[in-house]
Amino acid sequence: MCGIVAYIGKKEAYPILIKGLQRLEYRGYDSAGVALLSNGNLNLYKKQGKVANLEAFTVGKDVSGYAGIAHTRWATHGEPNDKNAHPHYSESEEIAIIHNGIIENYDVLKEELKSRGFVFKSDTDTEVLVHLIEDIQKKEGVKLAEAVRLALLNVTGAYAIVVLSKNAPNTLVAARKSSPLVVGIGKEGDFYLASDATPIIEYTNRVVYLEDEEIAVVDLNEGFRLWNIQDEEKTPYIQELEMKLEALEKGGYEHFMLKEIHEQPRSIYDCFRGRLNAKEGWVELGGIKEFEQKIVNAQRIVMVACGTSWHACLVGEYLFEDLARINVEVEYASEFRYRNPVINEGDIVIAVSQSGETADTLAALELAKSKGATILGVCNVVGSSISRITHAGSYTHAGPEIGVASTKAFTAQVTVLTLMALAIAHKKGTITETKFHSMLTELEAIPAKVSEVLLANDKIKEIALQYKDATNALYLGRGSSFPVALEGALKLKEISYIHAEGYPAAEMKHGPIALIDEEMPVFVVATAGTSYEKVVSNIQEVKARKGKIIAIVTEGDQQVKNMADAVIEIPATDEHLVPLLATVPFQLLSYHIAVMRGCNVDQPRNLAKSVTVE
Ligand code: F6R
Repeated sequence: MCGIVAYIGKKEAYPILIKGLQRLEYRGYDSAGVALLSNGNLNLYKKQGKVANLEAFTVGKDVSGYAGIAHTRWATHGEPNDKNAHPHYSESEEIAIIHNGIIENYDVLKEELKSRGFVFKSDTDTEVLVHLIEDIQKKEGVKLAEAVRLALLNVTGAYAIVVLSKNAPNTLVAARKSSPLVVGIGKEGDFYLASDATPIIEYTNRVVYLEDEEIAVVDLNEGFRLWNIQDEEKTPYIQELEMKLEALEKGGYEHFMLKEIHEQPRSIYDCFRGRLNAKEGWVELGGIKEFEQKIVNAQRIVMVACGTSWHACLVGEYLFEDLARINVEVEYASEFRYRNPVINEGDIVIAVSQSGETADTLAALELAKSKGATILGVCNVVGSSISRITHAGSYTHAGPEIGVASTKAFTAQVTVLTLMALAIAHKKGTITETKFHSMLTELEAIPAKVSEVLLANDKIKEIALQYKDATNALYLGRGSSFPVALEGALKLKEISYIHAEGYPAAEMKHGPIALIDEEMPVFVVATAGTSYEKVVSNIQEVKARKGKIIAIVTEGDQQVKNMADAVIEIPATDEHLVPLLATVPFQLLSYHIAVMRGCNVDQPRNLAKSVTVE
């Protein structure tokens, strides 16, 4: 949520910052801004709307300079307009700041500063911080980094900040708490700072992820130094990233979302590569190996997540309960953290998160950890906050997901949870050898089957054309296809703005059936398996009320085909693995409907990719 990027070195900063903002735009796109140091001037430009608006606004203006900071915003305090866009100037306009996070005590600090004559130009919480830094620097006569440190001692809340000052032209000062920040060590004595590594990776793969309450100073003469806000010097841990630049480009696709949907055969394969071998009959997740026995012994697993990741957990619940016979509770992280949840000794809490930065999920984990639970993570972003605070975990290896609507991250999360459930079930002896081996073989075949599903793209596009003007839609499924229905509905509503609900098919009679008429498309997962006949009955109930049925069926199905208005066939697979296939047509359907409605699929209104505020 909010993207920040900064550069200091020998190159022109502006093109690096603009490109960086474009890569980070998925984190927020309400407004964008940049501040540049040029010949002793601190020039600041900001504009409501996307980065393209900022670029248009700076045409003909002085954007020279070798040091700069830039920001793309997802509004929290203060509506999205020019004045609330970042960066923010200090009172003297000698210092500029960019910030991701929320200063919770900004009200008190603002009143205090106002009473001393400070004039505020925006409605943001961030402006308080830059005034405070300048005030401290002037009063105490300290260097910029020390003023930042002292200011942060007064602040409660979350922040990733970068500060640039006219009076320290060779220096950038950055700090983080609960919001991510990465420093890239350039090849020419230069430095890149950003919310994540995506704007950095084309210049350097040597990075340092800041820890909570750390302050980094990058200086063209003195290099990189690290402190914490208690003023203790730290040794930076430099990591080498393996991320490839192509992963951040659209690669010929019209949108990132479409590219990411089509990447799923590869991303699912990458997810289990080296972790299972059907021929040799083993599955192993190195990251959680040490905790395997603890999971086997667990009476209960609690899964915490938000949004799409929460849907992946619901699939995980079916897998763990059915295969490993462990009681699973799936919790919205935001609800879990504000109850007084019962955490028993021996409980395992698994957080599932694409970004690894979701504030509520992070806080839920911290709560569980404080109560003595073993906390595990299933994250996509390497080095993310969740992956760092958990006792252990497994990365999904889906590669960067740029489209705001989650697609390949979901199928990768489900794949990891399947591997986990299989590994535990095997160790625990709750799965027969025959079933274990057949599931491994089926899982290995999933990437090829997803490729087959993707071939239905044109047919799905035709269905999209027919239902693009719907105002409501229902999604139904049973068993582990119920979360698929929820996910289908979420995908449709978030990118096409059509109201959609997911329901367990049998629940329809308890209320939602009242909505059905000849206008209402009902998308149903009706694949072969234990509840097939039940779902067929539910379809009949919809047809009896003239609803339109669009069903996902197993290849060769005739019964549903005869009743439905349209069907999309997917290859036969083990019932436990159906979500990995059945989700894909719903992703494509939402994508095409959104494009036909003229919506911005990669950056839907009001949304941000990484929700780092609660
Ligand atoms: C929907 C979507 C969101 C995220 C949710 C959690 O397409 O992407 O619902 O799933 O914000 O984010 P992560 O997985 O990063 O914790």
